[in-house]
Amino acid sequence: MIRAKIVGVGAYAPKRILTNHELEQMVETSDAWIVERTGVRERRIAGADEVTSDLAAHAARQALARAGIQPEEVDLIVCATTSPDMVFPSTAIFCQQKIGAKRAAAFDLFATCSGSLYALSVATQFIRSGQAQTVLAIGAEILSRITDFTDRGTCIILADGAGAALLCPSTDASEILDIQLGSDGQYWDYLYCAAGGTKHPISHETVDQKLHYIKMKGNEVFKVAVRTLEDVTAALLEKHGIVTRDIDLFIPHQANLRIIRAAAKRLGMPMDKVFVNIDRYGNTGAASIYIALEEAVAQGRLKRGDLILMAAFGGGFTWGAGLLRW
Ligand code: UT7
Repeated sequence: MIRAKIVGVGAYAPKRILTNHELEQMVETSDAWIVERTGVRERRIAGADEVTSDLAAHAARQALARAGIQPEEVDLIVCATTSPDMVFPSTAIFCQQKIGAKRAAAFDLFATCSGSLYALSVATQFIRSGQAQTVLAIGAEILSRITDFTDRGTCIILADGAGAALLCPSTDASEILDIQLGSDGQYWDYLYCAAGGTKHPISHETVDQKLHYIKMKGNEVFKVAVRTLEDVTAALLEKHGIVTRDIDLFIPHQANLRIIRAAAKRLGMPMDKVFVNIDRYGNTGAASIYIALEEAVAQGRLKRGDLILMAAFGGGFTWGAGLLRW
């Protein structure tokens, strides 16, 4: 069987830093509350001239350069995003054009904050089936464009950023071992953005009702997220006969530091094996796991042969867990 591995990672964070102190001027909140309840100290916000595919293209170019692979060699681009450039064409198409991946098929994938693992899974399947030899899996978001900056329940965590992983067939021990995905539509109204689709085409009324912004029942999402992350990671480890202490690094979706800590505790995972960068980037949706992976590599926290566990949870609900041999 053909196996898939990551041969290069890239990330991009917009230059503009939005601090908690700035948010204190915008909504009734405090730096102390945000840090204690979410772990976020600052986040990046895209410039007015930037669109999601710009962020994706920056991350993709870095992943390609690090792998020493030319854009023309890419067979497929899968971009996970909840904040695309336009309704259509896809953000992946704009990214393809920007990086010059002339031979690549390109499409977007919609799985909210779990999009990172959904895209990684799709990319893995294309490599395993022999359909593609060089695949870019991307997570890119400009969530600030669909965030209500008068809603303190969402604007304090949501943020912008992008990350990319370049996948090729593996000829050594490095491998994406398994990615398990799940979803449950009964909770769709815990976290959604209604306007712009066929249910609520954009109108003066939808704008007046602020339906073009993300709505979230944060505390309810929080509780299901913790439970589900434990279930999906425990099931994946059990399937492979792996125990928590075998894992070298746990890279969770950076949704909220308290969710990450609770999930790690339930797994029996010490926090020094958990990668956290939510303090500097906030919740970047489908991008967060790629941004974290890129930082983990850049900081030298991964060595060849390490076993990595990834887990994500997001609106829908959607979730996923992945196991990688680095
Ligand atoms: O990315 C994947 C999907 N998303 C998530 O996983 C996010 C999950 N949810 C969360 O991260 C958290 O629920 C939030 C950070 C959004 C909110 O934290 P919480 O601990 O769940 O707060 P809460 O909504 O239960 O509110 C607790 C209190 C309330 O006041 P009272 O009723 O106790 O007086 C809120 O009104 O905190 C108040 N509050 C705030 N206070 C200051 C809510 N937001 C804020 C705020 N600043 N920004």
